[in-house]
Amino acid sequence: MKKPYLIIFIFIVILLMIGFFIGNNALNTNNNTKEVKQVENPKTLIVYYSRSGNTKAIAELIQDKVGGDLIQIKTAEARSANYHEEVNQNEQEQDNDILPELKTEISNFESYDRVFIGAPTWNMALPQAAVAFLESYNFSGKTVIPFNTNGGYGEGSTFSQIEAGAKDAKVLEGFSVKGGEETNGILLAIKGNRKVEVSKEIDRWLKKINQQSQ
Ligand SMILES: Cc1cc2nc3c(=O)[nH]c(=O)nc-3n(C[C@H](O)[C@H](O)[C@H](O)COP(=O)(O)O)c2cc1C
Repeated sequence: MKKPYLIIFIFIVILLMIGFFIGNNALNTNNNTKEVKQVENPKTLIVYYSRSGNTKAIAELIQDKVGGDLIQIKTAEARSANYHEEVNQNEQEQDNDILPELKTEISNFESYDRVFIGAPTWNMALPQAAVAFLESYNFSGKTVIPFNTNGGYGEGSTFSQIEAGAKDAKVLEGFSVKGGEETNGILLAIKGNRKVEVSKEIDRWLKKINQQSQ
């Protein structure tokens, strides 16, 4: 190779090496340090806990929009249908870190890439059945997306509990909406026109977090 060509060749090689180094660094900083599989058609699970149907309604709307399997978290022992009894039992369980045994078992959990997890706000936190669910599975490498319904006081600590419980998962921005107000005799609120409105809110949220496709 003649000298001028050799110099140009070495110059191009150096440029390529600098380009590779910068590109690699940019990728690493975007990675959020968690190793999460980037899948084109993620196998999706929508799992939820619901007493009076509001969180269930959101779970079904999400399934209509993104597809996937829908599973309700159920406790081994039936819960009280009486609101005040449930309020007391829940507080007892939360205060004493008691986890109710679950009837629900998901044998193929490791096959899911993307897991939507929904629960109502109970005493400004997660119902302990949802905590029991988080403690039962390995979330490493999955994308986790929380959703919530509440009586008007917001998601409380439910999203941060999901984030802490789904260890080594990539947790995306959650969706929270007002559901029932059992204290005022309103059990299922997400129905009829309200359901249509909420469905549009879910569309906007899914678009924002880039999860709208089937
Ligand atoms: C035991 C219990 C505790 C609750 N605590 C709260 C609360 O702290 N803050 C709130 O905004 N709503 C609270 N709610 C209301 C529920 O979050 C709300 O009705 C929710 O939409 C119920 O969801 P579901 O229909 O899926 O069961 C509570 C309801 C129950 C049964």
